[in-house]
Amino acid sequence: MQEIKKYVADNKQRFLDELFDLLRFPSVSADPAYKNEVLKTADFVAQKLRDAGADNVEVCPTAGYPIVYGEKIVDSSKPTVLVYGHYDVQPADPLELWHTPPFEPTIRDEKIYARGACDDKGQFYMHVKAFELMIQTNTLPCNIKFMIEGEEEVGSNNLGIFVQQNKDRLKSDVVLISDTAMISMENPSLETGLRGLSYVEVEVTGPNRDLHSGVYGGAVANPATILAKLIASLHDENNHITIPGFYDDVVELSAAEREALNKAPFDIEDYITDLGVEEVWGEKGYTTLERTGTRPTLEVNGIWGGYIGEGAKTVLPSKASAKISMRLVPNQNSDKITKLFQNHFEKIAPKSVKVKVTPHHGGEPVVTPTDSVAFRAAQKAIAESFGKEPIPTRGGGSIPIVALFEKELGIKTVLMGFGLDSDNLHSPNEKYDIANYYKGIETIPLFHKYFAELSN
Ligand code: BES
Ligand code: MN
Ligand code: MN
Repeated sequence: MQEIKKYVADNKQRFLDELFDLLRFPSVSADPAYKNEVLKTADFVAQKLRDAGADNVEVCPTAGYPIVYGEKIVDSSKPTVLVYGHYDVQPADPLELWHTPPFEPTIRDEKIYARGACDDKGQFYMHVKAFELMIQTNTLPCNIKFMIEGEEEVGSNNLGIFVQQNKDRLKSDVVLISDTAMISMENPSLETGLRGLSYVEVEVTGPNRDLHSGVYGGAVANPATILAKLIASLHDENNHITIPGFYDDVVELSAAEREALNKAPFDIEDYITDLGVEEVWGEKGYTTLERTGTRPTLEVNGIWGGYIGEGAKTVLPSKASAKISMRLVPNQNSDKITKLFQNHFEKIAPKSVKVKVTPHHGGEPVVTPTDSVAFRAAQKAIAESFGKEPIPTRGGGSIPIVALFEKELGIKTVLMGFGLDSDNLHSPNEKYDIANYYKGIETIPLFHKYFAELSN
């Protein structure tokens, strides 16, 4: 541990400078306008892996953005850790809400502000620096493989094929991912589950053109009003989702599991103050931690239609649309849920409009084992570097690759995230605490050490 701390202390500024260089690339995978920047980011990541000491580094083309691969095989009889991360980021808009530009990383109050600071550049780059540390101090205790992709934020559509075609190359004993959150520096935690995702877009069409709302209003169904009603009907008075069959495959937690989950430190007052709301909302009968970690949900991500420009325009729109995401829990299946949604939505639409449901990407929910050698290694690493045993939690977000690794390669994942829920992922002013960045770099070598030791 002393040696690790010394290496980090001696290289503090450079570790930060390099992350800043990475954060300056606007690698927004959702927006084709950034294509060249995303590609340049992949090359940058590859070079950093080479500089850190990785062999066989390759920017692997896919039908979308490339996957950066690199490895260090020290001894084929030793265990192998596959590190996964993503170099793409969410769009930064609305830009006017950022206090400093999203792609000019800035430090305020010991925090790095930039798009991707936490999700996931700041987090995966800790692994690159921890790897450098282990190479330089001659302490890499196991084999390591890196797979850093560029399409996570748009659903990892080309990753499945890559994994299938590279089964041998990716063969490992465990997948290690830092792309989740912990409770706080004082209360380190390890996420032991992720929700799945089913994402759809709905379009409601009424008359064949926008109409004068005085001439036709009151006589023709307004698609915006109908859409609002349809969406509102998707939750009942207890905030249960009304789609028939939606909960059929949901695994209910045992009383003991619920009790354990609710023991995690959580201050509801801080929560509502931070969010600027008067009270929380959600499915009746469940706590906030249960609602985000163990229950499926349905959220409108965006809704539009008709005139939304300056001033007023008296118009009855021809169309109205919404993007809807459903978060899934074991053992729900995203294709099945998407179909249930589609059937239900088409069925409840009145004859006065036509509805179209277009599925986007999906992903399956996962629960990661807590009795494995790898999980134990993560617990020991965190206990040593934070001075406190980590608390197991359930995460609300989704990383579809986790279920995919399990299905295609038969490998389980450890989610060793160092972010915070308050890091503004996908929001304006995304941040990552400098302390968490360094703490991560110090903890990761301990994971490898204990994983190698305990695997024996
Ligand atoms: N890193 C997040 C997922 C995450 C965040 C998990 C916080 C746990 C805690 C990831 O980059 C992400 O945003 N995933 C998307 C899904 C993807 C298919 C677009 C998500 O959760 O919305
Ligand atoms: Mn992420
Ligand atoms: Mn994300």
